[in-house]
Amino acid sequence: MIPEKRLQHGTAIPQVGFGTYKIAPQDAEAAVATALELGHRHIDTAAMYGNEVEVGRALARSGLARDELFVTSKLDNPYHEPDAARAAFERSLSQLGLEFLDLYLIHWPLAATTDYVATWRALVEIQASGRAREVGVSNFQPDHLRAVIGATGVTPAVNQVEINPYLTQEPLRALHAKLGILTQAWSPLARGRVLADPVVGALARGLGRTPAQVVLRWHLQRGDVVFPKSTHRARIAENLAVLDFELDADAMAAISGLNRDERSGSDPDKVELGNR
Ligand SMILES: NC(=O)c1ccc[n+]([C@@H]2O[C@H](COP(=O)([O-])OP(=O)(O)OC[C@H]3O[C@@H](n4cnc5c(N)ncnc54)[C@H](OP(=O)(O)O)[C@@H]3O)[C@@H](O)[C@H]2O)c1
Repeated sequence: MIPEKRLQHGTAIPQVGFGTYKIAPQDAEAAVATALELGHRHIDTAAMYGNEVEVGRALARSGLARDELFVTSKLDNPYHEPDAARAAFERSLSQLGLEFLDLYLIHWPLAATTDYVATWRALVEIQASGRAREVGVSNFQPDHLRAVIGATGVTPAVNQVEINPYLTQEPLRALHAKLGILTQAWSPLARGRVLADPVVGALARGLGRTPAQVVLRWHLQRGDVVFPKSTHRARIAENLAVLDFELDADAMAAISGLNRDERSGSDPDKVELGNR
C-alpha cells in the first residue's frame, strides 16, 4: 500500500506518484500504462508536457475506477489571464478525457510578467465549481505564497518545487509546514544526477538497495510527495519498491548533508513569459 497524505479539502494523495515530464507523446501512453499496472495510482502531468491526451488514454484503458486514481495537471504559462486559465483548465480536462482533476496547479508564478494573484483567484473558483478537487501552485517562492494567501484567504493545497539531495529547500519546506501547504518534490532524483553520488552509493550498498530507492526513501521520510519519472519498466518498479525499508537518523542526515543549493531545473525567478 502506498502511503497517503491529506490535502486541504480532505482529498487523499498517494505519497509516491509517477512523473511524466519529458515523456514524448508517442511513449507516454505505454509508460503510464506500465506505471498503473505496477501499482501507481497518482499521475503528475501538465499541459506544457504535451502528453495529456496519451496520459488520458492510459488512464482510460487501465480499467481503474476514477476514484482509485489521483491525477494532477498544471496551467501552462501563456494562460494566466483568468478567462484564458478557465479555458486552459477545460482543455486539460478534455485532453485527459476526465470529468474532474484531483489537483490543478499554476505551473510557474511568472511574477514579473503576470498577475498571478488573479490567476490564483481563477483556480479557487475552479475548485469551488467541483471540477478540481484541490488546487495549488508550483515553483512559488515565499513572497508569492504570501501574496496569494493574503489576497484571497485561500491557501494552496500544495507547492510543487524542485527538491532533491542537492537542493534540500529547508527554508521553503519550513514555510510550507507553517502555512499548512503540502510539499511536492519535483526532480526528486535531480534528473538522475544524484544517483552517482558516492554518499548515496555507499548507503545503498549497505542497505542492499539501489541509489534511487535510497533517495526516494529519504524524501518519503521527510514527509514530501514524490513522482519520479522513468520510461523503463524495471526502473518504474524499482522506484515503487521503497516502502519496506527505513533510513536511520544518520543516513537521513548524511543525505541531507549533500545539499549544495544547486538546481537541476529552471530557477522560478527566471521563468517568465517570453524567455522560455
Ligand atoms: N512543476 C514543475 O515545474 C516540474 C518540473 C520538473 C518536473 N516536474 C515533475 O516531476 C517529475 C519528476 O521529475 P523529473 O522527471 O524532472 O526528474 P527525476 O524524476 O528526478 O529523474 C528522472 C530521470 O532519472 C532517470 N531515472 C528514473 N528512475 C531511475 C532509476 N531507478 N535508476 C536510474 N535512473 C533513473 C530517468 O531516466 P529514464 O526515463 O531513462 O529511466 C530520467 O532521466 C516530472 O516527470 C514531472 O512530473 C515538475
